[in-house]
Amino acid sequence: MGQQKIIIALDGHSSCGKSTYAKLIAAELGYSYIDSGAMYRAVTLAAMDAGLFDETSAPPVEKIEALLDHIDLELKHNPEKQRTEIFLSGRMVEDLIRRMEVSGHVSYIAAISAVRRKMVEYQRWLGREKGVVMDGRDIGTVVFPDAALKIFLTASLEVRTGRRYKELIEKGMAADFSEVQKNLEKRDHIDSNRDDSPLKKADDAILLDNSEMTLEQQMIWFKDLYQRIISGADDKD
Ligand code: CDP
Repeated sequence: MGQQKIIIALDGHSSCGKSTYAKLIAAELGYSYIDSGAMYRAVTLAAMDAGLFDETSAPPVEKIEALLDHIDLELKHNPEKQRTEIFLSGRMVEDLIRRMEVSGHVSYIAAISAVRRKMVEYQRWLGREKGVVMDGRDIGTVVFPDAALKIFLTASLEVRTGRRYKELIEKGMAADFSEVQKNLEKRDHIDSNRDDSPLKKADDAILLDNSEMTLEQQMIWFKDLYQRIISGADDKD
């Protein structure tokens, strides 16, 4: 579909299927998929590995800022698995960063401005040649405000909890339904209320509630939208 490369920003609430959708869109268009949430999760894992979190308290911002200078984070394409993987100091951490412990701390880390500055810089660099689908919380508002196509995805809390619970179980990870639900609610609250780059729909993003939709229906919806955008997108990124 189409020759002209654009940036597609996919933002929305926790666990509403952004990454699955973004991957399908990227495959459809021959674009690369970039998971910005994985970057915040990797920084969180680095802070946990450095022993900065204890049972009761989160580390002071200064400690995270100091850690940032030493973090070696890289996204690399794995041609065999046909996916992009995230590396922390050379170690592939795709699965480790999805653990519930990381989910429990990530929104604290993602609210720190120094962390966001560094991640956004990397995200913009990764999108410099366009032809990318990037998912996250602030892609359409902050990272690529001029993206030609912006989608804001949401779904009911119940549906989102069910999807994440199933995903964790299928990966063989420990999961408790009500704990998963509480985590989603808590992250959405922190993500939407932080001062720096809060989660919100960009004015020009198109809202999609996929609670009742199959992926197939989402793709039909997307292709229609893409055709309309691409036929009049000359003046935008
Ligand atoms: O997969 P899920 O939707 O549950 O989350 P994620 O995309 O992996 O993002 C994890 C966390 O990173 C979010 O809850 C946010 O706190 C943070 N995040 C962010 O602040 N900005 C982004 N662009 C992406 C993620």
